[in-house]
Amino acid sequence: MDRLVINGGKRLEGTVSVSGSKNAALPIAIAAAILADGASVIHNVPNLRDVETLCGVLETLGATAKYKNATLHIKPINRMAYEAPYDLVRKMRASVYVLGPLVARLGKAKVAFPGGCSIGPRPIDLHLKGLECLGARITVEGGYITAEADRLIGAKMNLKGRYGPSVGATANVMMAAALAEGATTIRNAAREPHIVDLANFLNALGAEIQGVGTPVLKIHGVKQLRGTEYTVIPDDIETGTFMVASAITNGDVFVQNALRDHLGAVSDKLLEAGVQLDWEENGVRVTTPRQLAAIDVNTEAFPGFPTDMQAQIIGLLSVTPGISTVTETIHTDRFMHVSELNRMGANIDIEGNRAIIRGVDKLSGAPVMASDLRAGAVLVLAGMVAKGETVVARVYHIDRGYESIETKLANVGADIVRL
Ligand code: EPZ
Repeated sequence: MDRLVINGGKRLEGTVSVSGSKNAALPIAIAAAILADGASVIHNVPNLRDVETLCGVLETLGATAKYKNATLHIKPINRMAYEAPYDLVRKMRASVYVLGPLVARLGKAKVAFPGGCSIGPRPIDLHLKGLECLGARITVEGGYITAEADRLIGAKMNLKGRYGPSVGATANVMMAAALAEGATTIRNAAREPHIVDLANFLNALGAEIQGVGTPVLKIHGVKQLRGTEYTVIPDDIETGTFMVASAITNGDVFVQNALRDHLGAVSDKLLEAGVQLDWEENGVRVTTPRQLAAIDVNTEAFPGFPTDMQAQIIGLLSVTPGISTVTETIHTDRFMHVSELNRMGANIDIEGNRAIIRGVDKLSGAPVMASDLRAGAVLVLAGMVAKGETVVARVYHIDRGYESIETKLANVGADIVRL
């Protein structure tokens, strides 16, 4: 199994380029394969383990998905299968996004129940509630969810959950509603950049979705969607991770393709801590002209501070003087990285869903283990500022969401190799 070996203490300098958004590319590819009648060409798709897994899921369903040089060619086929087996769904939770599109297109879908994962319990009740509102009959048996409907019928629904809006439920229901009969209104829809990108893609296929980027989506169902050519947005979380990489190494890095509108909350918190951000047309230069100061962060649905940047900001604050707090309100158990950071010399306590971080002067390199994607990312960040050697194991978690992380970071001066 691959490991990343990092020798800390190098200041990052230069330009690092952000790839396409994983969390946009996955549902977009699903929509292209299941909902559209014609072929689609999707550009700026990141070369990631999750994209490979998704291509496997789509091919199992009967579509063709070919990936080359950041472009995904998708050909839907007429006689599609309606079952996504456990073996594939367990590798990637986003596979559950096929439920809505399959029932909209084929009248039936059978998808393995995804279960929890290392960032905590991850229910899908809101996905099922939304599809039931559209008239799907849902049954759960033998670890599988079956959804059936002769034709989905547009409806009004509120998808607010206990932890706010749901990205996945919004995506699932929006895709299904695009082909339903009549109008659907989704209140408390998620507004993350990748949801906006999915809605824009569906509209490019011929869907009629209004209110894109607001909490109220109005979807007028159409009879048919065609194929299209589309370019996926840059990954906001990869962008944020590189911004923190520059800040934590006291570096001077230009993060190319960074989109300011997608990073408002992350930028605000970095500025509050004392990081300098100089935005240009095609990216942002990140420098740290003065000693950073402790801050308090709450994760929230977009436009709030993203849960997917929680681990990385904790990494930065672990070496920032003073006492910072980070409260996780979305995936409230998502703190597996904290014990690994503490093994590297950080001083972080967890109280309920809050991390209390007492900034230390230095971290020291250690063998550590990635427990999930973003938990892996923060160990790489910590390794770059730690004294001595850090060896990150279970790199496959990182490869799910970061394209060639070691090459990108080595190009701006990090001492990092893959073994
Ligand atoms: C998406 O997951 C992302 N994944 C996650 O990114 C991200 O952490 C999350 O949104 C929040 O931004 C993809 O886009 C593929 P949710 P998703 O439904 O859709 C609760 C990463 O690191 N909830 O918005 O599964 C849920 O438990 C990954 O790239 C329900 O209660 O997240 C959570 O507390 C990890 N019932 C909150 O809502 C439901 O039916 C938000 O979850 C669905 C969710």
